[in-house]
Amino acid sequence: MASVAPQHQRVLSGMRPTGALHLGHYHGVLKNWLRLQQEYESFFFVADWHALTTHYDEPGVIADNVWEMVIDWLAAGINPGLARMFVQSRVPEHAELHLLLSMFTPLGWLERVPTYKEQQERLQDRDLSTYGFLGYPLLQAADILIYKAGFVPVGEDQVAHVELTREVARRFNHLYGREPDFAEKAEAAVKHMGKKAGHLYQELRRRYQEQGDGEALEKARALLEAQQSLSLGDRERLYGYLEGGGKVILPEPQALLTPASKMPGLDGQKMSKSYGNAISLREDPASVTRKLRTMPTDPARVRRTDPGDPAKCPVWQFHEIYSSEEVKGWVQQGCRSAGIGCLECKQPVVDAVLAELAPIQERAQEYRARPETVRAIVAEGCEEARAVARETLDEVRHAMGLAYR
Ligand code: TRP
Ligand code: SF4
Repeated sequence: MASVAPQHQRVLSGMRPTGALHLGHYHGVLKNWLRLQQEYESFFFVADWHALTTHYDEPGVIADNVWEMVIDWLAAGINPGLARMFVQSRVPEHAELHLLLSMFTPLGWLERVPTYKEQQERLQDRDLSTYGFLGYPLLQAADILIYKAGFVPVGEDQVAHVELTREVARRFNHLYGREPDFAEKAEAAVKHMGKKAGHLYQELRRRYQEQGDGEALEKARALLEAQQSLSLGDRERLYGYLEGGGKVILPEPQALLTPASKMPGLDGQKMSKSYGNAISLREDPASVTRKLRTMPTDPARVRRTDPGDPAKCPVWQFHEIYSSEEVKGWVQQGCRSAGIGCLECKQPVVDAVLAELAPIQERAQEYRARPETVRAIVAEGCEEARAVARETLDEVRHAMGLAYR
């Protein structure tokens, strides 16, 4: 992760509020967020405007899911003391940045985003030939750039959107990061660092530009980071000057690819609410037990005495996530020899899933009983997010010549 400057080591990610979260989300996305919140300044938001791009005719569904989703995050262990949680539409700065970015984003860039055509085909029952739907990856770019986030944890399907964000940032910096007297201003900024630090900066810059010394680049960035007395503008000039370009106003983010969730659905396909094969985080224990006990097994095991093959059984995939080596050995041996029955085989999985869900459900219950606490957490997150967003937007307005207020 060396190529993100230290002050941009912020994590940002969003989720659409379109339904109850399930074990697939937990093992795929949320566990990743839990780790990231420990390591980085993290912002997680409810992408309600994004949900409107596809569900504009069912706004009620979105409203219902906003708070429930935040409760699911909290229940899964997202810690308001570590991470900020907020709602996109309550930080209207995203919309202004989206508008400004739209001025110089070529239409072709949006038409070529792979999800654009794919989703239109997949969601045939919805009319997605709207302006908002075409523009949604650009809204996502605004979501990311407004926080100058360096890292964006996303699944495979969203990587193209982060890539678009990088292109948009690059184009922005190219168009608006060039001040006519950039080099002079940068040299003046070096002087503001003081003699010793300024000298070191120049030396590191030379080593990077002449010899492509990446370590020198890292050191120079760390040096800038440590300069307390630099103004924001000078700091950005010096970051840009290091790499030879203009001012880096909007840094390019990196996608942090969420490893594909190994969590299968009850039928062995990807777990998804729309496939009807999901176990939601709030599912009551009786229902979880029933779903697991009735899930399909190796079709070759028609009778209890027929031997089976775990490789052909979705239950085995659950054992791979939840069971110890010892239990897995017991399954392999018992299944192939018809030594154990399928219900017997499923029991350790039932126990493990229930044990995983119990503390999550307990926390969800606590938060549900205190809606004002959840609202306060989000209100605070929105305020903190807005403070950062306003600062970026101010710089963007200046750079685009809109500072006459
Ligand atoms: N588009 C993402 C999804 O459908 C959600 C999202 C919106 C997002 N804005 C974002 C994810 C910014 C990461 C960063 O899942
Ligand atoms: Fe699947 Fe276990 Fe039955 Fe084998 S014994 S078919 S692994 S449920």
